[in-house]
Amino acid sequence: MNLLTDSFEFGLHTQIHFGVDRIQELPSIIKKYNYQKILVCTDKGIVDSGTLDRLESVLKSGEVNYELFTEVEPDPTLRVVKKVEELFIMKNCDALIGLGGGSSIDTAKGVSVAVANPGDLSLFEGKNQIPNRGPDIIAIPTTAGTGSEVTHATVLKDEKRKYKMGIVSEHLHPKVAILDPRLLTTLPKGSSAITGMDALSHAIESYTSNQAQPITEALGLHAIELIGKWLRPFVADRSNLEAASNMMLASTIAGIAFIWGRIAAVHALSHPLGGRYKIAHGLANSIMLPVVMKYNLSSDFEKFKNIAALLGENVHDLSLRSAAEKSVKAVEELISDLEIPTTLKDINIELSEEEIQVVAQEAFDSGMTNANPKKVSVKDLVSIINSIK
Ligand SMILES: [Fe+2]
Repeated sequence: MNLLTDSFEFGLHTQIHFGVDRIQELPSIIKKYNYQKILVCTDKGIVDSGTLDRLESVLKSGEVNYELFTEVEPDPTLRVVKKVEELFIMKNCDALIGLGGGSSIDTAKGVSVAVANPGDLSLFEGKNQIPNRGPDIIAIPTTAGTGSEVTHATVLKDEKRKYKMGIVSEHLHPKVAILDPRLLTTLPKGSSAITGMDALSHAIESYTSNQAQPITEALGLHAIELIGKWLRPFVADRSNLEAASNMMLASTIAGIAFIWGRIAAVHALSHPLGGRYKIAHGLANSIMLPVVMKYNLSSDFEKFKNIAALLGENVHDLSLRSAAEKSVKAVEELISDLEIPTTLKDINIELSEEEIQVVAQEAFDSGMTNANPKKVSVKDLVSIINSIK
């Protein structure tokens, strides 16, 4: 970006409360905003891990009125959002808590839109299509990956269309995000690995995107460095509170980076793969990230060299191109160390040529590829998918 000729915008609309055990402050936050009755959206994994018990004891000790919805699904659907919306209205709630991974927080965002805007949610697909701001959301993430606690987007699955629909609006920023690293310590190993790769995808995609600007670049670089240093120890031992704290920070920083810096071809492809073949978001991103990086390398060798260095590669005495190539090697080694599958075959998914064409077209039509640093056509997307078969 040329600062003499280009301009940019940046803002953050979510109040972040970061720190071990800061979930205890929830009642005082609820009092501050004068919420009368909160609906907590969460999932069975959070119930089974004991995290919901912890939240409920905090709410009860603070004499907070609340209702529970504990059936959020991975890749939340419009059908589930409808159910929660009905509960929200029936119980006279006035604010939402999304407790969990991106699915719980995205569900809360969907409910907030639905409550304040009549009509099917598909009417609001795309950017800034929501007329009215809905009830406030307090996001309490229990994974370090999606960044949904600070972003202005929700991704919801339309089962009829087998399609993951994105709604992007400034009305969707959570009012508050409580980042309590202790909540990460019950995360299963596999989830910690793939959600961490989601965060790394946000950091790398926003840093290299053609929408990157000085503030998002700074945030993206710091997130890459933190993830390079802390994702392995965090996955190895989720009770390592120092690793959990750094991953939680990295995930939120990467989320802030991509609000403005955007995400690109990795996410463009992972959404249809998730929508059509139920591949978890972080896993799809992890599979796509190295091949998309390879495709994008020539757009800016300098940036990819920086990524390589931050991920611990020795880039001294190398040509710029060789140093940039090391970024792909570093990501591949990280994925290998985390024992994450690297091809569709590894997860027993086989796509026909026709299906590959559909995924590529859907990825292209999503508009996310517009932010890719190297121009990308449907044909390019087909060959990227072919390389991860
Ligand atoms: Fe993501």
